[in-house]
Amino acid sequence: MTIVINMRDGLDEKKIKVAARLILEGKLVAFPTETVYGLGADALNEGAVRRIFEAKGRPADNPLIIHIASIDDLEKVAREVPEKAKLLAERFWPGPLTLVLPKREEVPLVTTGGLDTVAVRMPAHPIALALIRASTPLAAPSANISGKPSPTSAEHVIDDFYGKIEGIIDGGETWVGVESTVVDLTEEPPVLLRPGGIPLEELEKVIGPIRIHPAVKGKKIDLAKAPGMKYKHYAPNAMVIVVEGTPENRRRKIQELVDEYRKKGHRVGVMATFEVEADEFYFLGKTLEEVARNLFKALRELDKRGVDVIIAEGVEEVGVGLAVMNRLRKAAGYNIVKA
Ligand code: TXA
Ligand code: MG
Repeated sequence: MTIVINMRDGLDEKKIKVAARLILEGKLVAFPTETVYGLGADALNEGAVRRIFEAKGRPADNPLIIHIASIDDLEKVAREVPEKAKLLAERFWPGPLTLVLPKREEVPLVTTGGLDTVAVRMPAHPIALALIRASTPLAAPSANISGKPSPTSAEHVIDDFYGKIEGIIDGGETWVGVESTVVDLTEEPPVLLRPGGIPLEELEKVIGPIRIHPAVKGKKIDLAKAPGMKYKHYAPNAMVIVVEGTPENRRRKIQELVDEYRKKGHRVGVMATFEVEADEFYFLGKTLEEVARNLFKALRELDKRGVDVIIAEGVEEVGVGLAVMNRLRKAAGYNIVKA
């Protein structure tokens, strides 16, 4: 049985207690963060963490992020916190930044996918923080079935997990829309493993140069250090095509592709930052931040409207645009058209 806990009107400590009790009993509770919804369990409870992998259909070697609510919690999971990690935590926590650090023995290998490092972040959502404070540090991947677009509202979580987990806290829509930035601090210089809500440029202002892992921009790479990179990701049911190029060229190419696929008898959806005539259209917004916020919602929504081809406009790879393009290219299975 799944209980849906309504906190759309804001934090409710009584309801938090109900959810916290479920967590402490080893159950699974989905909760909102500022990025996307997480599927949470007690990070130190092996059995509970194992159930996260089962529920998502997630490969066992794809490690989870541990969510904490105070700097004191960091020492419970990380064996060592280098100076650069401290600087980043001070500047960006709570917020959409995940730090990969050497793990403490107490953290089960199930949680870290067998690695001797642990990924940690302090989310900026009041409901997430209250839930962690009332229970324990939470292991939480995005609350979507493995391979599907990440959830930015409780409806998305209900679509994927109703009846399969014990609790879903409905805190309305998330506001960042793409997941946290993941940086490996066990390497020198540190390595960007996943672009996300905090732009790379902002991180480099605080700790200097960061190496970008080749998988961030390029093709699928099989790498033991970052197992999450090698799996199919963010894909809706429809075929996705990303159109990249200058804004004028993108507009022209997208309209061309719409006409071409419609002629072949497809139902075509477009997601873009300008109006396009298609069977279905989703406006992504004017700024890169809006595009990030709407990205996963647009993929899920166009799927629901029953299109079989989605043509998505690529955006500039600056700021949060780097995270947007990383997600879009994966959603498209690297089906990219240069305009
Ligand atoms: O914003 C977010 O980060 C969301 C919310 C719920 O906090 N969580 C999230 O979790 O996106 P998930 O499991 O969908 O993605 C975690 C990413 C994966 O790419 C995983 O491979 C990487 O973090 N990761 C986790 N632990 C790691 C480790 N020890 N070393 C390297 N990468 C790690
Ligand atoms: Mg995920």
